[in-house]
Amino acid sequence: MRIFIDSADLTEIRQVLEYNIISGITTNPSLVLKVFKDKGENSFKDFLAEFSKKPEEYSQKHDLRNLEVSVQVTETEYSKIIDQGKRILGVYDDFSEKSKMPTNTVLKLPLTRDGIRACEYFAKKGKKTNITVCFTSNQALIAALAGATYVSVFLGRTEDNFEGTSEEKTLVSKKLIEDTKKVFDNYKLTTKILGASIRNLVHIDICSQAGVDAITISPKLFYQMIDSELSISAAQDFVHRWEESNLIL
Ligand code: E4P
Repeated sequence: MRIFIDSADLTEIRQVLEYNIISGITTNPSLVLKVFKDKGENSFKDFLAEFSKKPEEYSQKHDLRNLEVSVQVTETEYSKIIDQGKRILGVYDDFSEKSKMPTNTVLKLPLTRDGIRACEYFAKKGKKTNITVCFTSNQALIAALAGATYVSVFLGRTEDNFEGTSEEKTLVSKKLIEDTKKVFDNYKLTTKILGASIRNLVHIDICSQAGVDAITISPKLFYQMIDSELSISAAQDFVHRWEESNLIL
């Protein structure tokens, strides 16, 4: 299962990329707003530019161009989504042209009637798409038939909209992921299931157990996947025992 980072904060993105196991970045209007609201209208363009630099221009050790970056449209009506989608892809094409390197933009479109039609439009033109705000396996099936590259299936928000105990909520999001995986397996659909709106480690477990293609998580959750008190104390225990000896490694 691949891991994407759900963030628009380049500082925290770069820190997570130190691990070199991240496959992409997903953004949404809320994440972008959170980081860029005080930085002026060109800030998001600067953010996109970071993902398209030539190796020699890029001083960090990681080449961000290898990452897929999902950028979400904010328009809701078909023709406006098409125009905005073209503009977003145009920004990347621009950078791509300058750097002579292909960019990895994934156009993120809403799972609405207009969003699905827009997905068909961009998919037919060979553009990568990520259909977002998916809450049922039926919707995911439609996204796949529309040619989406990814369908972002929302666990956390599914639970937010279900009244019940936390165990019951978990069962609902688990069923959503398992049902979607089953439908995609039944028909050998090539659209990739992206577990999204992931709030905790249980959600990650649900996705990996079901065998989804990828998840997108906050940097905080990424570190939580690594950290364990048991691991830290067991590692310290070995170090202490070693230090008590006179051996040299
Ligand atoms: C990712 O692509 C989604 O936009 C994101 O995971 C949504 O998360 P939220 O439901 O916590 O806003």
